[in-house]
Amino acid sequence: MYLGIDLGTSAVKTVLVDDAQRVIASESRALTIASAQPGHSEQDPAQWIDATFATLDALKASHAGAMAAVAGIGLSGQMHGATLLDASLRPLRPCILWNDGRAAAECRVLEQRWRALRAITGNKAMPGFTAPKLLWIATHEPDIFAATKLVLLPKAYLRLVLSGEAVEDVSDASGSLWLDAARRDWSDAALEATGLTREHMPRLVEGCAPAARLRSELARRWGMTGQPVIAGGAGDNPAGAVGIGAIRPGTAFVSLGTSGALLAPTGTIEANPDRAVHTFCHAIPGMWIQAGAILSAASCLAWAARLFGVTEAELLAPLGSRPQAPSPVSFLPYLAGERTPHDDPAVRGMLDGLSHGTDRTAIVQAVLEGVAFALADCRDALADAGIAIAEADAIGGGSRSPFWLSVLANVLNVPVHRFAGGETGAAFGAARLGRLAVTGEAIAAVCTRPQRIETFEPDAGLVNAYAKRLPAWRELYRPRH
Ligand code: XUL
Repeated sequence: MYLGIDLGTSAVKTVLVDDAQRVIASESRALTIASAQPGHSEQDPAQWIDATFATLDALKASHAGAMAAVAGIGLSGQMHGATLLDASLRPLRPCILWNDGRAAAECRVLEQRWRALRAITGNKAMPGFTAPKLLWIATHEPDIFAATKLVLLPKAYLRLVLSGEAVEDVSDASGSLWLDAARRDWSDAALEATGLTREHMPRLVEGCAPAARLRSELARRWGMTGQPVIAGGAGDNPAGAVGIGAIRPGTAFVSLGTSGALLAPTGTIEANPDRAVHTFCHAIPGMWIQAGAILSAASCLAWAARLFGVTEAELLAPLGSRPQAPSPVSFLPYLAGERTPHDDPAVRGMLDGLSHGTDRTAIVQAVLEGVAFALADCRDALADAGIAIAEADAIGGGSRSPFWLSVLANVLNVPVHRFAGGETGAAFGAARLGRLAVTGEAIAAVCTRPQRIETFEPDAGLVNAYAKRLPAWRELYRPRH
């Protein structure tokens, strides 16, 4: 029996997976984001711990027998967040999250200080990444910087609480800008450029390797007979890849979560930092992931639902299952700024083409199309690095909408596949990593592809109509920096 824990942005989701890879139970607890100023995005690490413990307490209550048999735990997490700990390993301040845009000036400083940044990390310095946040702290909160003894990404902090050990996996570490992506190790030059050393960093392991063991008192709390192994785990996107068996080149996928991404596993680094393509180590050895990442995807739909005072399901119902033609309205999904391809934390969203005749459905369709167009920008940025995408699997909450996947298939002009659901999330991928860390089985034997339940094929007429709209949609973007 294995547990996968995904420390997401809007919730912690925990799944209990049996030896036949069936999800036998899942629990989730919501998280909130604090934004004291526009562009700031923070979370109290105590929330992560309370939410995670609540999911595990609930699983103990409902599935005591299965929990007793847990042998391995995998962690997945929202990437890039800066959790700063003091000498007693207590958080010094709320975590600054992946969608926080405050450190734009620090990115420029970092790139000037360390000229090899793009070549070594495979990434461009962008405010969501961890290292620029530390430069911001050094300038704006010098006492906190001076007191910082350990810098952890969100799920490494969770692991520290669960096990007492500071360990991170290389996929999540790639989002820090402190990792030498080819060597899969911390870069001393990168750390020095932010006034840090290896002493401030957790130990590194591969995602499928054992990292620590659950504390004995916690194992007892959840009724486990042994002390389960905690695997390295992965950032949420690489964990999602493991969940759907995207472990070799040619298995591109699109994620429609709070954020969105178009991701391509690769056997070598095929970076394109100049167009804000992300380079991550994969959660399995010897593989990488090149990704176009957008900061708002399903969160745009959540925003529209709040605006209209209805549920997301109510918003989507009138659209039907396929678009007939593009919406007359256009939407820029930059509600939290944008990474790929613009790297512009200051840009904001936009609705264009409104008239007296515009109804809610036209706006909702435009919102879904705007996210799809942003993913087309990601596709083109990946293509510039030589990565062609012939088809894509869809994961994340947004992939439950057939209308949205149909829009994506037509905008990207590739078949888009959908899975049955529950077994495709980052938490499931994390559980697979937990299993691999215990059994040492062949990765390909565990990371199989789940059953695709539906394929959305591009339709020539719609492909043409969306291709005609894309240049006008791109014209709407005006850089704010
Ligand atoms: C990836 C990214 C997000 C977060 C939160 O670069 O910033 O996907 O991991 O989901």
